[in-house]
Amino acid sequence: MRLLVTGGAGFIGTNFLRYALARDEVERLVTVDLLTYAGNYANLNDLEADPRFRFVRADIADREAMTALVDAEAIDTLVNCAAETHVDRSIADHWPFVTTNVDGTLVLLEAVRGRAGFRRFLQVSTDEVFGSIPAGRATEDWPSRPSSPYAASKAAADGFVQAYATTYGLPAVITRSSNNYGPYQFPEKLIPLFVTNALDGQPLPLYGDGLNERDWIHVEDHCAALWHVLGLPATRGEVFNVSAGREVPNRAVTDLILRLLDRPPSLVRYVADRPGHDRRYALDASRLRKTGWEPRRGFEEGLAATVAWYREHRPWWEAVKSGAYRDYYETMYGDRLRDSSAAPRS
Ligand code: NAD
Ligand code: DAU
Repeated sequence: MRLLVTGGAGFIGTNFLRYALARDEVERLVTVDLLTYAGNYANLNDLEADPRFRFVRADIADREAMTALVDAEAIDTLVNCAAETHVDRSIADHWPFVTTNVDGTLVLLEAVRGRAGFRRFLQVSTDEVFGSIPAGRATEDWPSRPSSPYAASKAAADGFVQAYATTYGLPAVITRSSNNYGPYQFPEKLIPLFVTNALDGQPLPLYGDGLNERDWIHVEDHCAALWHVLGLPATRGEVFNVSAGREVPNRAVTDLILRLLDRPPSLVRYVADRPGHDRRYALDASRLRKTGWEPRRGFEEGLAATVAWYREHRPWWEAVKSGAYRDYYETMYGDRLRDSSAAPRS
């Protein structure tokens, strides 16, 4: 396999590179990453020793660069992890989401379209394209009703991947995973934000009433699913949901983190809600399970291991939480925390 993984310096990309490099089938592994605020080259330092590995700093929306790279490296498999990924940032400014998530995906599709020997384009998508799931579990056929600009950009990209599979016969497949947690996640997302804030005795800003539910999966189980899907015969834009089937209200996640770190509940602050905040995500992943994949990590055990990782990697997240991150934090949370309360308002 001559594999191109985009977004390798981000959370899932970094974990997936490690997963793939442990496989003998990988003859060459190139990762492209623009190193935006979310990309961290330090994550890849230890991978450079592997002669099969190459890091390229580039923009997936750069047509010439992507075409030249795919040609030069004779890429036969592409896993697209690069994206703008934070819902709150997409509400503040959606343009980078359009450029990277929509244009970038199209550029990658064009770069591999019609390539002799090209085997698989895997689009790493999200359950957010379905919007809020009021009850039950969404199968792959659930209608797409994205709520945030982030989710809308991912749904648009999925549409292009399916169009390329249908119209041009590009061998492509889409995975839609639920919320991931684990090592190397940027501390803007709920779990690493709350764990690192709690470690520092800082407030934990819970949105709204804290009862929104997310369907948590450990990143290693997601990476195993991506690898598994690459080996399936599916090539016609099929969708596979990826979920451990474990939805948890944000308040319960917060309580678990506080308990694991032995920190007081008084750290929790209820803050103004996210606009358009999806109430509940819950996926039915039985299509993928029937092909032989299954998640291995339970939520409580996986969360404990994740908390331990952040506790042991303070220099990693302290470096990430410096500089521009502080401005981001003040813009996103400053007024909300000043206007917060110890209990939900409604
Ligand atoms: P992340 O924000 O941690 O990492 C994204 C990476 O993409 C970063 O390294 C960043 O530098 C890079 N990047 C951004 N714009 C780029 C561009 N124009 N060109 C090249 N590189 C660029 O994101 P993540 O959580 O690792 O998510 C990876 C993928 O998985 C995304 O497509 C996301 O939509 C999807 N996903 C994430 C989750 C989750 O819970 N984290 C769940 C389901 C799906
Ligand atoms: O469902 C998959 C998606 O999960 C991915 O596609 C996205 O890339 C990823 O960011 C994630 O989206 P969410 O919006 O669900 O994740 P986030 O960690 O931002 O929020 C999780 C829940 O926690 C959500 O209900 C909002 C809430 N929250 C989040 C933050 C950052 C808070 O209450 N306070 C916070 O400070």
